[in-house]
Amino acid sequence: MSRTPSTDPIRRSQSEQVRRIREHLANRSVVLVGLMGCGKSSIGRRLSSALSLRFVDADDEIERAAGKTIPEIFEDYGEAYFRDGERRVIARLLRQGPQVLATGGGAYMNEETRAAIRAQGVAIWLKAELAVLMRRVQRRSNRPLLKAADPEAKMRELMALRYPVYAQADLTVETREVPHDVIVGELIDALAASLEAASLASPALADKPPLDELTATPDELPVPSSD
Ligand code: S3P
Repeated sequence: MSRTPSTDPIRRSQSEQVRRIREHLANRSVVLVGLMGCGKSSIGRRLSSALSLRFVDADDEIERAAGKTIPEIFEDYGEAYFRDGERRVIARLLRQGPQVLATGGGAYMNEETRAAIRAQGVAIWLKAELAVLMRRVQRRSNRPLLKAADPEAKMRELMALRYPVYAQADLTVETREVPHDVIVGELIDALAASLEAASLASPALADKPPLDELTATPDELPVPSSD
């Protein structure tokens, strides 16, 4: 027989956790960071539905602002141009919290983006082992950085470069080959514990960021002039 949420102690305690997370977040975003293949989008989508928050994928928003796919942006204008647009788009998205925001693997490497996330979000690093990442990225071929002769060597190189920076995130949750809902449960536990501790230490953290510049602007990824 199915039980209703109000009589199920596990569900009831999770909905209480969710209520407290929403309260402590106020207008801040839960921002997922980590390497390609760690599950930021798929886990982020499930987390957003568990928290009854909007889910936003920064890569999708970049593609929308540019009117091109990410491989096309890299091919037509190069990585530096993509990174600049990525920084601007994420700055705008962060003003639209609360939400769950999945960022592309390189976004958190930008110092300005890290500062904006620190001010307007809670960063969670979805940490994964190489084998897990490689198994997952092999399913799709839409990642320009992995169009290398040896994608696994490239991934190792990115791990060495990025893991020390991802470690600056507020929280780290190890993702692995278990059902996504298990990871979502761990994310909710980690968020509830850390937000509560942070707001006890500094109630000002719950202050709301200004709600402005909410729409895509044409200069986020401007078409470069041909000369
Ligand atoms: C990148 C990761 C990609 C995408 C772009 C660059 C990176 O996003 O932003 O291909 O630098 O790691 P995912 O991490 O969502 O695959």
